[in-house]
Amino acid sequence: MGHRPGRILITREEIAARVRELGKEISRDYDGKDPLLVGVLKGAVVFLADLMRTVEIPLACDFIAVSSYGASSRSSGVVKLTADLSQSIVGRHVLLVEDIIDTGRTVAYLSRNLETRQPASLRICALLDKLERREVEVALDYVGFTIPNEFVVGYGLDYGGLYRNLFHIAALERDAGEGGPA
Ligand code: PRP
Repeated sequence: MGHRPGRILITREEIAARVRELGKEISRDYDGKDPLLVGVLKGAVVFLADLMRTVEIPLACDFIAVSSYGASSRSSGVVKLTADLSQSIVGRHVLLVEDIIDTGRTVAYLSRNLETRQPASLRICALLDKLERREVEVALDYVGFTIPNEFVVGYGLDYGGLYRNLFHIAALERDAGEGGPA
């Protein structure tokens, strides 16, 4: 069955405005700390690229990648590191940047993992928080938008690898003419 991006939930302008606010907050909170922004591949790439340019203090960035073993094993909490950071984070002020927090399992795993590496601090910044879906408790330090429990695509978020390049966040909908109501 085909799916495509449908109704726009968050416009390009709303995202840009909120990202600028987050950038201001981060600039204030990390002044003098030269933070290391760590983007979680692949979804966070678009958000990170925009966010880092709204931050007005010196910063560095790096990337980390994880995979979860499909839907069933995600609920079992199995997350695997598939690409690691390129540098030590000992003594660094690390800000983990995610596109979306769903069950919370990915970010909980990454927090545990990164905490063992002795950063000076570790905080989490997520563009989208799908709070209704939370299975493990995670403390989010910066949140762009809290969204309802709908499958969303765009601005880094994909469906089957597609639609990350949309400027806005849209709900994924069934192709017209295929089956009943979504
Ligand atoms: C998404 C998102 C988070 C994770 C959140 O990544 O970027 O990393 O899922 O879900 P959770 O809170 O239930 O763990 P995804 O696995 O879709 O990979 P991608 O970023 O490469 O698209």
